[in-house]
Amino acid sequence: ASDGLIDSFGRHISYVRMSVTDRCDLRCRYCMAEKMEFLPRRDLLSIEEIVALADIFIARGVRRIRLTGGEPLVRRGIIHLVDALGTRIGQGLDEVTLTTNGTQLARFAADLFAGGVRRINVSLDSRDPARFRHITRRGDLTQVLAGIQAAAKAGLAIKINMVGLKGINDDEIEDMLRWCAGEGHGLTLIETMPLGEVEEDRSAYYLPLDAVKRGLEQEYTLVPSLHRSGGPARYFDVTELGVRLGLITPLTENFCAGCNRIRIAATGTVYGCLGHDQKVELREALREGGEAEMKRLLDDLLAGKPRRHDFSIAARAPAVARHMNVTGG
Ligand code: GTP
Ligand code: 5AD
Ligand code: SF4
Repeated sequence: ASDGLIDSFGRHISYVRMSVTDRCDLRCRYCMAEKMEFLPRRDLLSIEEIVALADIFIARGVRRIRLTGGEPLVRRGIIHLVDALGTRIGQGLDEVTLTTNGTQLARFAADLFAGGVRRINVSLDSRDPARFRHITRRGDLTQVLAGIQAAAKAGLAIKINMVGLKGINDDEIEDMLRWCAGEGHGLTLIETMPLGEVEEDRSAYYLPLDAVKRGLEQEYTLVPSLHRSGGPARYFDVTELGVRLGLITPLTENFCAGCNRIRIAATGTVYGCLGHDQKVELREALREGGEAEMKRLLDDLLAGKPRRHDFSIAARAPAVARHMNVTGG
């Protein structure tokens, strides 16, 4: 579109990540502190407001929307939102996707498919029940596996997200890859990012994925794939297993030059980058219907969108105080 969203580095914004709630039923150690304070519910956009905001972005050339959290499936009205966004597919939108922890999938999988969702990303850092509990602090592996099964049965393509954690699940990566191959899921490995204070030192379990990749290459052929999801992952086809492996490497290989996204928090705050505080507040402009004001705010956002994140695992303090659950990545 001629009024497309282009930042000061010439990057086109065609992808919006929408965090529909910062709440989550799990407390993954690298993501949250045990005692998190969540946003007051009165500060959240309503489902109708989220749809109105989505329409503004679609009118400016956004083609993909990914719903995130927190855990998006704990947001009341989530299926109404999916249904509404689903009617925009083919009318500007190419796809609506969702990133979930899977605990509520058994209940919602069929509704997601009916609403137009065709692929989802499910976080699963371990297939060992005790480990899964340890990492998530309160998750029940059986429930998540049942959710994944229900999603597959409902017709959703599934990509498993596994955050690589040294000394916690690094010995399980090959097993996870084989399991995904057998189940017909993709697998994406993610490096831990320093977002918000958690109770522990993330650098203690930081796992650089360049080393993991070299390890896998001892045994498997990793053919760089032309596949693009629109996200930061680099993909490889694992010849021997017939599975697609994604690597998200914010620390070992920066991908910000190709950034095509912004992220909206549940309050209507929009962030230009996961690793910076740069933001604009859209809630008031949205409520007051000020079109000119909305345009001015989006221009500000684009003008100030940072060139790249400065994540460093060596730095003692998190890059930003905001936790992952505020923007969902
Ligand atoms: P696609 O949209 O299908 O490409 O999925 P995705 O893998 O990008 O999305 P998902 O929500 O599953 O996120 C996987 C990981 O990528 C999470 O840890 C996100 O925080 C991270 N991620 C997504 N977008 C960005 C980004 O712009 N910058 C950084 N540093 N990480 C990101
Ligand atoms: N660094 C990297 N990935 C994270 N996730 C949550 N917090 C972090 C972090 N600090 C992952 C989740 C989920 C995805 C949305 O982000 O495990 O798969
Ligand atoms: Fe919840 Fe996802 Fe954070 Fe785990 S990583 S606590 S599932 S938002």
